[in-house]
Amino acid sequence: MDFRSDTVTRPTQSMREAMLTAMVGDDVYDDDPSVHELQDRVAHLLGKEAALFVPSGTFSNQLAIMTHTQPGDEILVLEDAHIFLHEAGAPGLLSGVNMRLAKSIDGTYDLEELPSLFREKDIHHPRTSLLCMENAHGNGRVISLDSMKDVYEIAKEKGAMVHLDGARLFNAALSLEVEPHELAAYTDTVSVCLSKGLAAPIGSLLVGSKDFIEKARIYRKIMGGGMRQVGILAACGLVALDEVLPRLEEDHQNARYLALSLDEIPSVHIAWDRLDLNMVFFTLDEDIDLAEELGERGILVNPLDLGEYRFVTHIDTTKEDIDRLILAMKEILL
Ligand SMILES: Cc1ncc(COP(=O)(O)O)c(C=O)c1O
Repeated sequence: MDFRSDTVTRPTQSMREAMLTAMVGDDVYDDDPSVHELQDRVAHLLGKEAALFVPSGTFSNQLAIMTHTQPGDEILVLEDAHIFLHEAGAPGLLSGVNMRLAKSIDGTYDLEELPSLFREKDIHHPRTSLLCMENAHGNGRVISLDSMKDVYEIAKEKGAMVHLDGARLFNAALSLEVEPHELAAYTDTVSVCLSKGLAAPIGSLLVGSKDFIEKARIYRKIMGGGMRQVGILAACGLVALDEVLPRLEEDHQNARYLALSLDEIPSVHIAWDRLDLNMVFFTLDEDIDLAEELGERGILVNPLDLGEYRFVTHIDTTKEDIDRLILAMKEILL
């Protein structure tokens, strides 16, 4: 039982079977039919012209930054964004850009502050070429369409491009009860992951205009991400879209069931205002190492992070698993 993340899922049986029979070609020559099918389907789902298959979400975000910017540029990123917190300073290293951090209000930009963060044209200033958003946000929240629209419009007024880190875009769309393309409408480019809640072993897609993706293809090669018979992996992505995406709602329902069950323990305090997805955040009154205690009972959870625990549900989480987790939690805490 593993509640650490939705990245811990294993490929489904259908994915393993799809890998066996996948049509493949050399994707650096752009002739892998399975990759083409996956790219076309994801581009269509997001209402954009083209998509590019890449190894990971970090790769996809960094490829977007490299393709949108020139060395010496400045990009706007929220202070609690994955791109800033968890991508090891890659924008400076790989693209030679500076990240200007914006205050985060629960994962959204402060609309009062935002216009002042774009640099005016001046010999002393770098160019603000890109603004990055994240939806769903890693804090468990979903950002509203209105908020995305406001931010997008300000960025456009200021002449900047907009990239969305949509590692969990499908979860966000589900939670907001909108189609994925409605979220993508307020972006120039989007990164989506197949290896989070969608259970594929590897893979993300960078999605945008045809011209952008043509340029990104060159940078993907420069970054060492040109892969050969990668249709074997794209085949898993296609199964993820056909078979895992339609059941994503179950993960959200299980997270709610988990939160309601945890709430029966008085020392647990659920962050109800951040329960939009498949993630339950909570604080604990007691000074107990839950990761260690649950680990001894064969249940994996991440250690405390910034004073909070985060339990995540996914395709391999059943209601019975949650009941077993709650029993163990009660044994430890009551
Ligand atoms: C919001 C967000 N963006 C990007 C990533 C990076 O994805 P990857 O681990 O595939 O590099 C993650 C990973 O969990 C994430 O949560």
